[in-house]
Amino acid sequence: MTAHDQELRRRAYEEVAKKESIANSDPHRQHFHIVPPVGLLNDPNGVMYWKGSYHVFFQWQPFQTGHGAKFWGHYTTQDVVNWKREDIALAPSDWFDKNGCYSGSAVTKDDRLYLFYTGNVRDQDGNRETYQCLAVSDDGLSFEKKGVVARLPEGYTPHFRDPKVWEHEGTWYMVIGAQTENLKGQAVLFASDNLTEWRFLGPITGAGFNGLDDFGYMWECPDLFSLQGSDVLIVSPQGLEADDFRYQNVYQSGYFVGRLDYNKPELKHGDFTELDQGFDFYAPQTLEDDKGRRILFAWMAVPDQDEGAHPTIDYHWIHCMTLPRQLTLSGRKLIQQPLPELKAMRRNEKNIQISMHGSSGLLPIEKPERAEILIEDIQTESGFSISIRGTAVFSFHKDEGIIKLERTSFDGKRTEARHCRMNDLHTVHMFIDASSLEVFVNNGEEVFSARYFPFPGNDEVTVSSTGKSAMSVGIWTLM
Ligand code: FRU
Repeated sequence: MTAHDQELRRRAYEEVAKKESIANSDPHRQHFHIVPPVGLLNDPNGVMYWKGSYHVFFQWQPFQTGHGAKFWGHYTTQDVVNWKREDIALAPSDWFDKNGCYSGSAVTKDDRLYLFYTGNVRDQDGNRETYQCLAVSDDGLSFEKKGVVARLPEGYTPHFRDPKVWEHEGTWYMVIGAQTENLKGQAVLFASDNLTEWRFLGPITGAGFNGLDDFGYMWECPDLFSLQGSDVLIVSPQGLEADDFRYQNVYQSGYFVGRLDYNKPELKHGDFTELDQGFDFYAPQTLEDDKGRRILFAWMAVPDQDEGAHPTIDYHWIHCMTLPRQLTLSGRKLIQQPLPELKAMRRNEKNIQISMHGSSGLLPIEKPERAEILIEDIQTESGFSISIRGTAVFSFHKDEGIIKLERTSFDGKRTEARHCRMNDLHTVHMFIDASSLEVFVNNGEEVFSARYFPFPGNDEVTVSSTGKSAMSVGIWTLM
């Protein structure tokens, strides 16, 4: 480790020592979501199951609540409920990553953990350079940088980043999010036999493939894996126009299901489907654990989407991760369910039966800033709504076949909404943290993720129905 690297780490830890207690005093500080100790957190990186632990690294800016030269922070857990903060994994200290150790992934080989990440560099004139870099570890906790392993090929701008690596039939592959010289988004592939020397194979989809001539000006954070016999590409495209209920956020995150022909190489796939119907979801990344489960973590925010208006900035922190979700394929649709391990957070179970007719009632929630609500056996004439702490409303409109999530905007001045189509609603599974909501609809057919910032003391959760509705409700306090 160079002296400069040590100095950057020292300064980051000093910042944590100075400001973490302020961050922890924020009434909006999360109880059961991954947050940065101080500063800004964005993408999950290097998500990995290794030797009995789940590793989640994250893009971290320790010195401010805006973006900048990112570090890789690091959490581990054995049970997906109790997370341990580990030492900084990577600091932006070298010529090839001096303006940020940007997003990337992890694989294991011969008992070592390999991190691949993008070295973000600005030259003297502020022009961007990009390098795909490697760092290696024997214990999964401290990493030795090995430097640049792949460079920018011809035909692409330096918006070329976020390597995700996997093995297929004895060869390593790396998918990267790219922008062509014509300013269009693509996913490109590299291959390697030894993880250190990589050859460029070319684009596998994006502009010019699968009928996607105009599908965003940049694709970030690709993740390619096989699931139940299909290949799934998750990606975060930038530059899609809003279209009816779709693409309402500033940038999108979604997936294509198809088949990767490794010989060509080319991914043949169907349409793009957004992963989340809510306000705050971006740059998801998946791992496969020892039980063969495909598990997804995402950043619960969207870049450039009201980031400056988060009230947590006053407490020196911003953003969090989503809860981990297990992915399964049903036809060509990804189903997302909260990991069953999360049930270990449940305390003080209450079960009630509700039946309403043109009325509303308070749910008996002990701690609305850390609660789980599972609504099942729903029977409703025309729909119903759940209002959460005066700041968000989840509602089902049966006649229109629409589900809606509304929230008060971060500046408190507007109500904003996200929708999806849903003809029949049979379960609603809601995780409410101090400043986030995740609502799993119909056992993971759709998910709405959102930050929300209620005023302290605004604690009521109410269910209302204009016509007749009946449902059974389980309620827990979490952790
Ligand atoms: C996505 C992203 C990545 C990049 C990282 C930088 O949110 O822009 O493309 O690697 O964040 O923090």
